Amino acid sequence: MRRDLLSYTLLFTTPVTGFYRQGASLVCDGVPLAPIAAGHGTPLYVYSAATIAARYRAIDEAFAAYPHSIHYALKANSTLAIARLLRGLGSSADANSGGEIDVALRAGFTPSQIVFTGVGKTPAELTHAIALGIKAINVESSGEIQRIEAIASARGARVTIALRINPDIDARTHAHISTGLKTNKFGIPFERVKAIARDARHLASVQIVGLHNHIGSQITDLRPLTDAARALAQLARELRDEGTPIEHLDLGGGLGVSYDGSPVPSAQDYASALLPAVRDSGFAIVLEPGRQIMAPAGILLTRVVDVKPQDERKSFVVMDAGMTELIRPMLYNAFHRIEPVVERDQPALAADVVGPLCESSDTLGKDRTLRNPQPGDLYAIMDAGAYGSVMASNYNRRLLPAEVLVDEGAARLIRRRQTLDDLLALEV
Ligand code: LLP
Repeated sequence: MRRDLLSYTLLFTTPVTGFYRQGASLVCDGVPLAPIAAGHGTPLYVYSAATIAARYRAIDEAFAAYPHSIHYALKANSTLAIARLLRGLGSSADANSGGEIDVALRAGFTPSQIVFTGVGKTPAELTHAIALGIKAINVESSGEIQRIEAIASARGARVTIALRINPDIDARTHAHISTGLKTNKFGIPFERVKAIARDARHLASVQIVGLHNHIGSQITDLRPLTDAARALAQLARELRDEGTPIEHLDLGGGLGVSYDGSPVPSAQDYASALLPAVRDSGFAIVLEPGRQIMAPAGILLTRVVDVKPQDERKSFVVMDAGMTELIRPMLYNAFHRIEPVVERDQPALAADVVGPLCESSDTLGKDRTLRNPQPGDLYAIMDAGAYGSVMASNYNRRLLPAEVLVDEGAARLIRRRQTLDDLLALEV
């Protein structure tokens, strides 16, 4: 069913950007993928610059009628070339660690374009953010406000912060990526916000300029996002009336994409769900999309290493990529389409598509149908541009994959493959 949908999309529509078929061959923005894999080896991430641009602009245009800024969530994919591309498109940045702040700076974002979120910011990270004078630190607790105040007053700095609210709203997504419930570790409980804001008004070095929430990721039911935005806007109005100088509402990220071809809300639907909730408040909004921009803009290329029977009905197709390159299927039971790079009319084989690691959960796709796969055949794991490469690991001493960006007809290496020497260079 899912495969049928994909074939339909790939064969009967002619997208100008992204990953689609020209004849039997899967291409990226018109550039065939097989030669890219031959040149750079596998496993290999390949990204479409045109898709990144189109998806960024779709969000920007959907919100055009209201004051907004897009702070791309670097955690989805922060390879420098990708971050630079997004900056060039007009994006700002959402960083979740000192490392992501530094990557943002190296990609050319200015401190005033960076917001810093994170449930456990260390004193060193806070000091760094304060010294830079970033747009806002999204704070998670009253303790964190006090730590910021202490660091800032010692340096004679003034810091602008946003309070991250936990609205206790169920985002109706996978439990591992749901962040807006009381039982999740994120943010300040809704009912405690006013007291914390009142206390903070007396602080000399800290100024609350915003409220923030992010209730989860891969959200495809817009209602919880609307509810959270409405609650945030209402709270912000009340705080403004009490004298807290709120300027912006940071509505986080979270908009889901379609991994299996089923319909999902568009950027336009997303704007239609959020804007009515905040419009009357007049506050400027910040958006932190990650997946929405990057997931469909990247694939993971992998080759078949082995094919072996499981039982009479089913086989294992062993790939040269696994949980070390793409952990999403294993971690969230996530579905990613697995497509042959060159389609052949061959008998169907029922298979579990697995990786090479020493874990039974190292599975890329369960119960798939492949066309007589043979060792050496090239496959693409689709929609892997977000939370793919950034979550890769060196388990089993595997080396981080290379990454290629296809831009205006040219395939450019943007990260070389890690070597064993790179890995061992850290060891003393
Ligand atoms: N803002 C904050 C504060 C976040 O924590 C996140 C994601 C985002 C923005 C971006 O959310 P997005 O628009 O991408 O949904 N590794 C998981 C996803 C974890 C998301 C964590 N936070 C996955 O592979 O599905």
